[in-house]
Amino acid sequence: MVIIMLGAPGTGKGTVAGILTSKLGIPQVSTGDIFRKHIKEQTELGKLAESYISKGQLVPDDVTIDLVKNRLKDSDVQNGIILDGFPRTVKQAEELDKILNKEGKKVDIVINLTTPEEEIIERIVNRRVCSNQDCKTIYNLVLNPPKQEGICDKCGHELIQRKDDNVETVKSRLENYFELTSTLVEYYEKQGKIYSALVSKAINKLGEDVAEDIVKYIENLK
Ligand code: AP5
Ligand code: MG
Repeated sequence: MVIIMLGAPGTGKGTVAGILTSKLGIPQVSTGDIFRKHIKEQTELGKLAESYISKGQLVPDDVTIDLVKNRLKDSDVQNGIILDGFPRTVKQAEELDKILNKEGKKVDIVINLTTPEEEIIERIVNRRVCSNQDCKTIYNLVLNPPKQEGICDKCGHELIQRKDDNVETVKSRLENYFELTSTLVEYYEKQGKIYSALVSKAINKLGEDVAEDIVKYIENLK
């Protein structure tokens, strides 16, 4: 099963994908996480990605498509994948369709998360993530704080703040989302693949509830 997590920055793609991975046993692949790993290791790809990510811009399509194309060859994702943050442009979506078609696969479901913009900024500036690459649990200092300040509940590693989690960069990420990515809702709506969920404190929807609803929806598809 190929699941795509679509949504503006901070809508909860990573949070919901993480819960879905444990509920469905399907690996989560986040292009943002892969880029951040490369940035940390200062590889050539990392240096290039950093020059875009630090300004809140998208990494160029050819680079991102190549990265995902190669990742899709790995043995752990042959029976299913949750793509978190890819595709983000129509070009990426078209290329993904081509890659999957060649293998007799297709995108099965596109989870489109939406959150009011004012909540997004608040969420992102208060986000902290586990520094352990094998854990990467996501917290929020206000909405979902760790039990012990600065320490991951799950693995005990230090929590860090992402470099692109500041108000200025978030605004640019949001602009890019509305300009380049939001059109994908229509792209997948035409294919009848969209599952939309409003994730907002106004309706008290937490990541766990959203993931449970998605699992039920997927079970009914079978
Ligand atoms: P990426 O890492 O994907 O960042 P993003 O899209 O900006 O999304 P975020 O990770 O910020 O938010 P999220 O939706 O995962 O929310 P989260 O679950 O953490 O990409 C980073 C950069 O890499 C991009 O800007 C771009 O430059 C580049 N890039 C990546 N993919 C690319 C591509 N395909 N093409 C080109 N460039 C690409 O939640 C946010 C916060 O809210 C957390 O604190 C969490 O605890 C809290 N929260 C989550 N859900 C809830 C809830 N239901 N209730 C209360 N709080 C919640
Ligand atoms: Mg994320």
